[in-house]
Amino acid sequence: MNDMRPIEMQHWFTIGRLSDIPRRGARQVILPRGPIAVFRTQTDEVYAIEDRCPHKGGPLSQGIVHDGAVTCPLHNWVIDLQTGNAMGADQGCVRTYRTRTDENGLVSVSLAGPAG
Ligand code: FES
Repeated sequence: MNDMRPIEMQHWFTIGRLSDIPRRGARQVILPRGPIAVFRTQTDEVYAIEDRCPHKGGPLSQGIVHDGAVTCPLHNWVIDLQTGNAMGADQGCVRTYRTRTDENGLVSVSLAGPAG
């Protein structure tokens, strides 16, 4: 597993470089609020959500990224990366976090509040 240790910068945590996350892939980072899954889409958008499926706690960072969503590896619930909501007939949600990528390609996650 790739080691992406956070560096605290006020409420923003720098978790590594965008290039450390494969397109349509994810990395798990451990922050003070627990494990967070950081996703990179095919078009280099970055999303961070709680790394715990609302169904039975599956590791969303090990899911399949597609169309702005991730499919949980355990029972295939699909979670919207922007809202954290389960899609389709499933009900539940995960916490979302704001992200930013600076001019040097460093990705940070904010724990100050939900994305949006
Ligand atoms: S734990 Fe994610 S779908 Fe069941």
